[in-house]
Amino acid sequence: MTRRILVLPGDGIGPEITAQATRVLEACQTLGLDAEIEQGLVGGSAYDAHGVPLPDETLDKARSADAILLGAVGGPKWDRIEDLSKRPEKGLLGLRKELGLFGNLRPAILYPQLAEASTLKPEVVSGLDIMIVRELTGGIYFGQPRGIEERDGQRVGFNTYVYSESEIERIGRVAFEMARKRNGKLCSVDKANVLEVTILWREVMDRLAAEYPDVELSHMYVDNAAMQLVRAPRQFDVVVTGNMFGDILSDAAAMLTGSIGMLPSASLNERGQGMYEPCHGSAPDIAGQNLANPLATILSVAMMLRYSLDEADLAARIEAAVGKVLDDGLRTADIASEGKRRVSTSEMGDAVLAALS
Ligand code: NAD
Ligand code: IPM
Ligand code: MN
Repeated sequence: MTRRILVLPGDGIGPEITAQATRVLEACQTLGLDAEIEQGLVGGSAYDAHGVPLPDETLDKARSADAILLGAVGGPKWDRIEDLSKRPEKGLLGLRKELGLFGNLRPAILYPQLAEASTLKPEVVSGLDIMIVRELTGGIYFGQPRGIEERDGQRVGFNTYVYSESEIERIGRVAFEMARKRNGKLCSVDKANVLEVTILWREVMDRLAAEYPDVELSHMYVDNAAMQLVRAPRQFDVVVTGNMFGDILSDAAAMLTGSIGMLPSASLNERGQGMYEPCHGSAPDIAGQNLANPLATILSVAMMLRYSLDEADLAARIEAAVGKVLDDGLRTADIASEGKRRVSTSEMGDAVLAALS
């Protein structure tokens, strides 16, 4: 059956990195992937064309796609749009919410070839392989009420941090299942010493643990987790946490792998439909210069093949191709080190393609 893949390049470096990832997808077509690829607008580029960051046409295409590949959204050009609902980031959040993509997998893996590129000592990060499971459609990102309003003669801004038991249980199950398939260790990160919502989070995780006796559950406060990630990151196997803590901790984990340009992600719903995107943003500082690292996006294609398209072999081939180009010493600027060959975004794409065939 022909699968449908929707590519949403977005803004900033989005078009440059998705162009390389699309070439990899096309190579997969010649290697047997039965899929059609179409494109759509999201974020600032959609706002410029249609006045909204998530046009109906894009949402319709996304609903009927088996998988979506997204580059990145946002940038200074759109940071002053007064109506917050029209900001590029709302396009991304809208897609996540509308498609019910609650389960965000962010694997931080250190390719051994990049031990030098990490800002941490090789002995601290070598062999690093962490899976961050981030809840993606709830928490403070979506809680109501929210807003900025006049109170007692001054403006106040407010958001609501809320999780229901069912939302916690749903992401908890994703994490326990993941830990079961890996090394059987799950660390749930919260702020249960201060926030009621995470007292409930902890309770639900403890309750679930009884159903997964083969998984060793631990709890950690988020401030300590941030410190431990930098101090001794290999203590972690699977980490499960809410939307905002997961956003922050995954950027920190990304840097352990050498660069945020290396960290892919999958966002899954209950039907197995998925959106795949690098964890980084639109990198306005390097956009349009053919400098960005496309590997996080290419590795997101591998996750797409594995999690939504049932093509684990092709996924493994892409990951092996990325390993090979790193072995060959090719490096974009963000992962550059002495004695290695500096390449552009498109040259990195060329090299992955060559290693694939
Ligand atoms: P960012 O991730 O875009 O950039 C942070 C730093 O990392 C920059 O110095 C950038 O050059 C570098 N970087 C990021 N990706 C890289 C890559 N592939 N190769 C090499 N270097 C890379 O974060 P930011 O600067 O805080 O945000 C910029 C814009 O992106 C904002 O509008 C923000 O809202 C948006 N954003 C979007 C997403 C997304 O679409 N998923 C994620 C994060 C931020
Ligand atoms: C990410 C991004 C998004 C988030 C923004 C752009 C809405 O930082 O995907 O990590 O906060 O989830
Ligand atoms: Mn983020």
